[in-house]
Amino acid sequence: MVKILVTGGAGFIGSNFVRYMLDKYPDYEFINLDLLTYCGNLENLSGIEDNPNYTFIKGDICHKSLVHEIMAEMDYVINFAAETHVDRSIEDPEIFIKSNILGTQVLLDAARELGVEKFLQISTDEVYGSLGESGYFREDTPLAANSPYSASKAGADLMVRAYHKTFDLPINITRCSNNYGPYQFPEKLIPLMISNALADEALPVYGDGLNVRDWLHVHDHCRAIDQVLHDGKNGEVYNIGGNNEKKNIDIVKLILKNLGKDESLIKYVKDRPGHDRRYAIDSTKIQTELGWKPKYTFETGIAETIEWYLDNRDWMDKVKSGEYQEYYERMYR
Ligand code: NAD
Ligand code: DAU
Repeated sequence: MVKILVTGGAGFIGSNFVRYMLDKYPDYEFINLDLLTYCGNLENLSGIEDNPNYTFIKGDICHKSLVHEIMAEMDYVINFAAETHVDRSIEDPEIFIKSNILGTQVLLDAARELGVEKFLQISTDEVYGSLGESGYFREDTPLAANSPYSASKAGADLMVRAYHKTFDLPINITRCSNNYGPYQFPEKLIPLMISNALADEALPVYGDGLNVRDWLHVHDHCRAIDQVLHDGKNGEVYNIGGNNEKKNIDIVKLILKNLGKDESLIKYVKDRPGHDRRYAIDSTKIQTELGWKPKYTFETGIAETIEWYLDNRDWMDKVKSGEYQEYYERMYR
């Protein structure tokens, strides 16, 4: 039986991934190690708790002895665990260094000592920095991170690379563009705008609203990770993206239109410091070498996603009732 350690599996992408894999591979076994930080949420995994092939362990990827103990039986390690929000990294970078760089190094050490078959690092297109009006991020684009978040992810990527080059650890790194879909914490653009629009609250658009992101449905990201896990060539980096560039303001207007709300809710606010202007992924490598391509069109994906948040208002209300309120006050009022 294949045994896989997933870290950060109670977050947005990790929980979608665990659901997808349990469904697709009923004979694989999964351990989910997650610290349940402000955005880790066991409700993202409701319905699968009793699956005999799934175990949840609450813990920190920085905790060496715990990580060694858990990893002893594992064939594969997939590291989703991270601090992930750019705005929080601007407020307080320290925890980003700890969880994203030190945590990754603790996992790498254990993986090396215990001889895991593959260490898959879930990274981000943000490590490449910002694009002008033209061009795309390729796997050989130099790393040029601009925020403490992306710098910590770039640091982790380099550490993963170093363990491969120095210690022969079998690895892959994936660098994906912006994800959207169910279970995303409402500090991120799409769920935040849906949530505020539903509450008839202002929709805070940073700067001129013309920054561009390349959006991919989270289920397409999960399919790509599955493919890299099984077929990725040892040591390789794979970019993952939907070829779906959108300006922030267009996304916000689309959400308002879908919800039947007025554009007067839009409020332009102070820009994010160091705000990357444009991200766009060239995913030729994963498409040609591994045969992956996205299934969702943005139109279908965003309509389905809005529908999901409408159908899961309890989930949203609970998520917003905790630390979120304080964060929102600090950030936006
Ligand atoms: P998320 O913030 O929703 O979830 C992160 C999870 O990691 C949470 O469950 C949290 O409790 C856990 N965690 C944090 N620190 C931990 C620690 N020290 N030990 C154990 N668990 C810890 O994040 P997400 O959006 O699901 O992103 C998952 C991964 O994918 C991240 O590595 C992120 O950099 C990467 N990524 C995200 C996107 C995106 O658009 N969301 C795009 C590309 C890559
Ligand atoms: O590109 C992949 C990255 O995408 C991931 O690595 C990150 O973990 C993930 O958070 C995301 O980063 P972004 O900074 O692009 O996502 P965010 O949702 O925070 O912002 C998307 C865009 O929307 C960005 O240009 C900032 C803007 N924005 C965001 C918020 C939260 C606003 O205009 N207003 C807002 O309130």
